[in-house]
Amino acid sequence: MLKGITIAIDGPAAAGKSTIAKRIAKKLGYTYIDTGAMYRALTHKAIVQGINMDSDNELSDLLRQTEIVLLPVNDTQAILIDGEDCTEEIRSQSVTAGVSKVAAHGTVRKLMVEKQRDLAAGMGVVMDGRDIGTEVLPDAEVKIFMTASVDERAERRFIENTKRGIHTPLEELKQAIENRDKADSEREISPLKRAEDAILVDTTSMSIEEVVDEIVEIAEKRMY
Ligand code: CDP
Ligand code: CDP
Repeated sequence: MLKGITIAIDGPAAAGKSTIAKRIAKKLGYTYIDTGAMYRALTHKAIVQGINMDSDNELSDLLRQTEIVLLPVNDTQAILIDGEDCTEEIRSQSVTAGVSKVAAHGTVRKLMVEKQRDLAAGMGVVMDGRDIGTEVLPDAEVKIFMTASVDERAERRFIENTKRGIHTPLEELKQAIENRDKADSEREISPLKRAEDAILVDTTSMSIEEVVDEIVEIAEKRMY
């Protein structure tokens, strides 16, 4: 019998995780959970309220008082922070520049992981982030570690930004991606790394459809 399984997708910035995860969830009728958006939501609120980003205590207190809702809207996902739509705001340059610092704190991560496990409980789920296969859902039936060369990832972000009317130079984007990957991979708590049992998918020269098909095929084999 077909059963709802959990699919964990981790990898560096702009590898295509959320684009692919969303499409897989749609194909399989599963729930998509964007954990990066949750860290971004906390970072956005911390910036607005002038919270000290070096303080795990202040940030985790803020998180306890914050309602973060991931709301499916057509083919995308809206992010509500305390009931307010902040989907665009959480992608701002200042949030992107600060999020790895916020995400490095121990209590912040502990609270986020609890929320993420609650959201995933008892249903078919595709969850993407940095520590899903290693920490949040270590028993996920499918674990993918998605990568692409840094030049390709910067190029993809550049094209995406251009469509959104944002004109950051390509070199600047590449540098920001490299900095974030370094911070995420070198932090002490739950760093970005490939789980031992994760399947490596290098998407550098793959189209979105090819990646989706490959992962759906892997997932379907685990459903019976
Ligand atoms: O989409 P993009 O690759 O730019 O990043 P994201 O998935 O929105 O994640 C933003 C940041 O949140 C990452 O750079 C990490 O610092 C943090 N993050 C994390 O630490 N753990 C996760 N499970 C997801 C995101
Ligand atoms: O979630 P993550 O940061 O890993 O990446 P994303 O935001 O899903 O993807 C970054 C950009 O790459 C998006 O504009 C995707 O449309 C694009 N992309 C692509 O061109 N080819 C792929 N195989 C995957 C994503």
